[in-house]
Amino acid sequence: MAIEKKDIDWGSLAFAYTPTDFSYVCNWKDGAWEEGGLTPDHTLNLSECAGIFHYCQECFEGLKAYTTKEGDIVCFRPDMNAERMYDTAERLCMPPFPKDKFVEAVEMVVKANAAWVPPFGSGATLYIRPFMIATGNVIGVKPATEYQFRILVTPVGPYYKGGVQPVALMVSDYDRAAPHGTGNIKAGLNYAMSLYPSVQAHSQGFADNMFLDSQTRTYVEESGGANFLFVDKDGGLVVPQSFTDSILPSITRRSLVAVAKEMLGLNVVERPVRFDEIGEFTECGMCGTAAVISPVGKVVWKDGEVVYGMDHVGPVLAKLRATLTGIQSGEVEDKFNWVHKVM
Ligand code: PLP
Ligand code: COI
Repeated sequence: MAIEKKDIDWGSLAFAYTPTDFSYVCNWKDGAWEEGGLTPDHTLNLSECAGIFHYCQECFEGLKAYTTKEGDIVCFRPDMNAERMYDTAERLCMPPFPKDKFVEAVEMVVKANAAWVPPFGSGATLYIRPFMIATGNVIGVKPATEYQFRILVTPVGPYYKGGVQPVALMVSDYDRAAPHGTGNIKAGLNYAMSLYPSVQAHSQGFADNMFLDSQTRTYVEESGGANFLFVDKDGGLVVPQSFTDSILPSITRRSLVAVAKEMLGLNVVERPVRFDEIGEFTECGMCGTAAVISPVGKVVWKDGEVVYGMDHVGPVLAKLRATLTGIQSGEVEDKFNWVHKVM
């Protein structure tokens, strides 16, 4: 039976929150996760002493549901988000949410909000935001004993205005993540760190920051919400790695590396990338669930800039983007078995 979609102008959606019909909620109490289920209530009522408010025990994930060409509703590699959230929770002394239960919860909340999943070809998607917070009281610095895992979903358009229009970035004077700190996990606290430089960047007309490694300020790490990709003069992909384990292991980036190597036959090098070599590359992009692949037209810093081109998308990143979005929408064969059918 065809689902009657919500009456929304899907094509003009921004990356913003619209409450939908249901969220998923599951509590951890007395050392175990409860059954969990759907709720129409999009608010939380918490103790003023809940651990989230004081010591920032919070983590989250981001994935999307798509309508394919055939009309199926699918997600992209939800098992990878389950795994990353598991690792993140362990690092923050939070009870990891079981990986199978995570995927079941994603399926449940997407099915319940099927009317909110944007139609094929609309350019919009249903953004899925699983997150976990400490709900138990703590006043001394220690992990809480009670937690809540939730998933909210919301229909979204492109993360960077213009979608595939190149954006300008500025190199931040601030650090996003400490060496061997929490940059490699998806904790809200990393984003709190990036807000001040992000507001600065926006106020100066930049879409985001390029953060350098905080130990030496010589290597490219990532932006506030995406990993970087570069293309070298020979058309090969160069993917920044961190000496200090402070780049988030992007699922999009890892998928693109496989697409580049195994589908497009590109040469791929994953290595630390020095900031002083970015002028030698021919293309630069940011990749992530929200960003997909957003081309970077220029990178600006105090006394210099590198211009890749503000008026066109480079051919290698354009091809990578088309292949990835084609797999997600069912237009390109999913030879990796990444697409997870929900209904
Ligand atoms: N880096 C940061 C800081 C992010 O917030 C995200 C978004 O999730 C990414 C990279 C991209 O990761 P993924 O491709 O798993 O969405
Ligand atoms: C995502 O891509 O899912 C993220 O979490 C990035 C965030 C900055 C919106």
